Amino acid sequence: MTQNQLRLGVNIDHVATVRNARGGAYPDPIRAAKLAEEAGADGITAHLREDRRHITDADIDGLMEALTVPLNFEMAATEEMQKIALRHKPHAVCIVPEKREERTTEGGLEVAREENRLAHYIAPLRDAGCRVSIFIAADKKQIEAAHRIGAEVIELHTGAYCDFHAEGSFAERDRELEALREMSAYAHSLGLEVHAGHGLTYDTVQPVAAFPEVKELNIGHFLIGEAVFRGLTPAVQEMRRLMDEARG
Ligand code: PXP
Repeated sequence: MTQNQLRLGVNIDHVATVRNARGGAYPDPIRAAKLAEEAGADGITAHLREDRRHITDADIDGLMEALTVPLNFEMAATEEMQKIALRHKPHAVCIVPEKREERTTEGGLEVAREENRLAHYIAPLRDAGCRVSIFIAADKKQIEAAHRIGAEVIELHTGAYCDFHAEGSFAERDRELEALREMSAYAHSLGLEVHAGHGLTYDTVQPVAAFPEVKELNIGHFLIGEAVFRGLTPAVQEMRRLMDEARG
């Protein structure tokens, strides 16, 4: 991988969503992760939610065993999740806000409001060798707080940008994109590694992929949906191609 190349983390949560709709063993998220890896994913992302609605504890065990690329373990900042992360010591841990009633991670973490608690929370994870990332909105206050608590990475929430695009609200979309651009540069200037994700599709990925400060995109729901029509390998390969094209 060249210095300029953008990493693609493929989120396999929704393979588990389909499996869990019936119970049983298929489709298998570990098989999906291995296929994504072969298709060009640089990492696999999985969110162990508190209600285990998609990924399960056994999936995390299986991913840790099967993967040769890094696992990015998304989790809420709870004691239970910290214990699981410390047992597995994945390459990366991404701290996300989590509400039981939400369908997906709706917004970024309020780091500024919980600075003290989060600083203590992530310290043992860092000591265990995990790269700690904080999932936040493109907001200066949150970026500065993430920096102060000792996070090495921030992941910027691209959900609002993608939603505005899908609704055809292009002025709002462009305003969100501009905020993402400015805040990527700002976070980078503080020494933070910048990732981005949530809601990205073939239509929305390229403007974000073109930001030179962004080092990784984490993409799931769209890719798993696209895999129904064209298969997971071509779906991931096309995302990879678009990212590389945008990066020039
Ligand atoms: N990044 C983070 C931190 C997330 O919480 C999610 C959703 O689990 C994603 C990326 C991937 O979002 P999507 O599935 O919408 O592509």
